[in-house]
Amino acid sequence: MKQTVLVSGGAGYIGSHTAVELINAGFGVVIADNLSNSDMSGVEGVRKITGVDVPFVNVDCCDKEAFSKVFEQYDFDSVIHFAAYKAVGESVADPMKYYRNNLLSFMNVIDLMREYGRHNIVFSSSATVYGEADQLPVTEQTPRKPATSAYGNTKQMCEDILRDSVAAYEALNGIALRYFNPIGAHPSALIGELPRGVPQNLVPFITQTAAGVRECLSIFGDDYPTPDGSCLRDYIDVVDLAKAHVVAIARMIDGKSKTRYEIFNVGTGNGTSVFELVRGFERVNNLKLNYKVAPRRPGDVVAIWADTALANEELGWKAERSLDDTLASAWAWEKHVRGL
Ligand code: UFG
Repeated sequence: MKQTVLVSGGAGYIGSHTAVELINAGFGVVIADNLSNSDMSGVEGVRKITGVDVPFVNVDCCDKEAFSKVFEQYDFDSVIHFAAYKAVGESVADPMKYYRNNLLSFMNVIDLMREYGRHNIVFSSSATVYGEADQLPVTEQTPRKPATSAYGNTKQMCEDILRDSVAAYEALNGIALRYFNPIGAHPSALIGELPRGVPQNLVPFITQTAAGVRECLSIFGDDYPTPDGSCLRDYIDVVDLAKAHVVAIARMIDGKSKTRYEIFNVGTGNGTSVFELVRGFERVNNLKLNYKVAPRRPGDVVAIWADTALANEELGWKAERSLDDTLASAWAWEKHVRGL
């Protein structure tokens, strides 16, 4: 077995998929999660898919004392830090909840890595740091725009915390992965996204509408300056995204980083409109979706998609799963959750 990786937030959507891909690639995994926005089904799914009895610690990364026990107990040199709140609207309504949780947990990870002599960290950043970009597609050099939510601000601040920490502490190597719009589920349908309450993101709302849990999907705006009037996003399959974490960790372990702090976009390089996504979902899964056009959602950017050249060249990583397969996997997962 290769080295062990601590996956904070590993019971959640992207964390659980990444745990699976790490194990598939021969890494050991320890999952730390306080289950604040997930449950044990994510961990059990990882164990079932891989056949490995992955260790799980129920701990809040904001509780440094409790979190330090994970560093005492397990021998890992690398950390992938997913543990964070991620609801944009909630972060606007309750910014302190986001600053306290997302910043403190990340600072604790870095402090503990230093205290316990651990070296490599991947941080979950987001395309949200680009805001409404002046040029498309966005490269890693595209200037960040001032954040429009506390959530987005925590992503920018954590990137800066990582940059400054790596600059100051020689033993530390960091990679920030800027995710575009992660969707879909593992082909086994044993793990996937489990939003609590009314989904805020497009694909979970679509699958819940198809399952009859929601009556009607609202398409937020059809009068944007885009070919069909709806917003454009770069929808990245969650398994492809998970694999980007594996190559990022391996790059640091193998000493292949060009600089000790690096940033990579993780997307497909394609912009897809909301209408295209909805129609694709209907076609691939052979069903009709109840939807209507609704007013624009405040805060939405018109269009964003990734330039993925840097990840392709430096990480040797490329999105592989087709949008059709991803949309089929999202529906298979929803059916699994609903017992359909
Ligand atoms: N949309 C709808 N109806 C819905 C939900 C979404 O039409 O019920 C549209 C949105 O208006 C947007 C597109 O679908 O045009 C995608 O919306 P999501 O909420 O799925 O994703 P966002 O692009 O808004 O969110 C992403 C990430 C966040 C990040 C945010 C920055 O999921 O983590 O970008 O704006 F913060």
